[in-house]
Amino acid sequence: MRPMKILSLIGFSTAVAFFLAIFLPVYSQEKPAREPDVIYVPTPHEVVDKMLDMADVRPGEVVYDLGCGDGRIPVAASKKYGVRSWGFDINPVRVKESLENVEKANVKHLCTIKQQDIFELDLSKADVITLYLLPQLNVKLIPQLDKLKPGCRIVSHDFDMKGVRPKREITYSPQGGREHRIYLWVTPLEKENRN
Ligand SMILES: C[S@@+](CC[C@H](N)C(=O)[O-])C[C@H]1O[C@@H](n2cnc3c(N)ncnc32)[C@H](O)[C@@H]1O
Repeated sequence: MRPMKILSLIGFSTAVAFFLAIFLPVYSQEKPAREPDVIYVPTPHEVVDKMLDMADVRPGEVVYDLGCGDGRIPVAASKKYGVRSWGFDINPVRVKESLENVEKANVKHLCTIKQQDIFELDLSKADVITLYLLPQLNVKLIPQLDKLKPGCRIVSHDFDMKGVRPKREITYSPQGGREHRIYLWVTPLEKENRN
């Protein structure tokens, strides 16, 4: 092979390697490990407040939001109640937004955000769990929720959980907004009669 051809081949491979080294890590940081089970739709802030109110968050408790989106629920829990909160999302873009919101709200000392699949989580430290997923995803969470300590509260925006009876359910309409359903369960979960 001619020296000029060898040199241009080396140049080309160096350029490709450089491109991959720069852009591949950025791309993989922005891409979820797998497809999220539900798309991102934020809970309006007034509904977040109502959910936390319904969960009766108390001092010293720990709040988990499963699929935390932009982190608004854990941020509100820490800001309003001064409690430890955790937000988990599988999508790195949402995790980044959550971390920015934690920073903006000055609750870094109370609020932790993790990129994690909620179906692989140990929920044993939670006192309150908030959900805005889908009915079938709520049902899929039951085996994990069954392991919670007694007295934990689970609140779900809009969607029920077939097979377990809620302790309370309400319809809430923020001013100028649509009707939102909020469900509350308290552990141990009360299984519905399947007959
Ligand atoms: C409807 S949004 C709710 C966001 C937030 N909880 C709220 O109420 O504003 C659902 C979120 O769940 C995340 N998600 C979907 N599947 C997930 C999974 N398996 N593990 C963790 N997060 C997941 C999505 O990326 C999305 O941000």
